[in-house]
Amino acid sequence: MRKICKVTVNDAPFLANCGDLLLDWALMSGVDLPHDCRAGVCGACRVRLVDGKVFGGQTPGDDMIHACQARIVSDLEIATEAAPDQVTLPGRVAKIVRLAPDVAGVDVELAKPLEFLPGQYCKLQFRGFPARSYSPTYPLEGRPHDRVLHFHVRRLTGGKVSSALGHEIRAGHRVRLTGPFGSAFFREGHAGRVVLVASGTGFAPMWSVATAAILERPQRELVFVVAARSIRSLYMHAALCRLALFPNVTIIPMVSEPQSISHAVRGGRPTDHLPQLSPDDVVYTAGAPAMTESVADIARAAGARCYTDPFVPDGEASEPANLMTRVSGWFGEIRSNPIPLQPEQPKRAEHRLAGTARAHR
Ligand code: FES
Repeated sequence: MRKICKVTVNDAPFLANCGDLLLDWALMSGVDLPHDCRAGVCGACRVRLVDGKVFGGQTPGDDMIHACQARIVSDLEIATEAAPDQVTLPGRVAKIVRLAPDVAGVDVELAKPLEFLPGQYCKLQFRGFPARSYSPTYPLEGRPHDRVLHFHVRRLTGGKVSSALGHEIRAGHRVRLTGPFGSAFFREGHAGRVVLVASGTGFAPMWSVATAAILERPQRELVFVVAARSIRSLYMHAALCRLALFPNVTIIPMVSEPQSISHAVRGGRPTDHLPQLSPDDVVYTAGAPAMTESVADIARAAGARCYTDPFVPDGEASEPANLMTRVSGWFGEIRSNPIPLQPEQPKRAEHRLAGTARAHR
């Protein structure tokens, strides 16, 4: 007969079979642990092991475990990270702009502010269309507004939602927002380097994380690898130029299509341009699942914490729709104390972003 263990998640106790996966027993016992890939990759199910022993799912150097990989070995005490409650809010499309040939910027005005953490995502349902998941992000220019959320939507041929933007879906269109979701959100208080890796519209959540990281500590060391398909898809160059003004920020723009416009914009894969990682780093990555998995593998091998936000395709349509299956207080902070994204000690952006700037011209 199998041994029974007592597991307590926050204040909720339940009994579980020793040897079984923590996530499975939590969900079976009505404890709603966030999760996503169930493969130890995305980081959505990371919880703190306060007391007890598990087999598997550990992260070297800290007490966080992946509940989807951790097998219960003894009585356990588990703590989850606090995240804002999920809500459903009505809103309307305030503006749709063309950010790149294949990316639309969609501003949604809500009836009241949404509390979320940088890097989290929401489900948007434009009236008459299926719901899609997108990450609200810090504005590419100017300051945030407490009731207006900014989304980056990749346009896909035949996409039920993305191809309707600017056509059937225009300013004024009604929207229902549910969220926030996802656990690849910015963790405050990390003293080491922050490494961000984004592909495509994975830039949106990573831009939120980058902004929060710099607002928390303007002098912090931050490396941001930003990948796009082509030079014309590097729609975020102005935002990157603002970020590159901070003293310890390194931006690595890259495109997958061959280009001869700038040597500063690199080719290859995002993982080709990752800095050497160490256990002192924390890595956040969002975009194509193969890319986020590769980044997570490299981070894991280096003993670095890694939070991934893979944009998993929606089964119903061929439209990935930034379709994350994913899960921060910076907006709360910004709302109460709006801070323009400006460095204390400006430096010349073109040192790090000359390529993108030239490409843009
Ligand atoms: S659900 Fe456990 S790491 Fe993704």
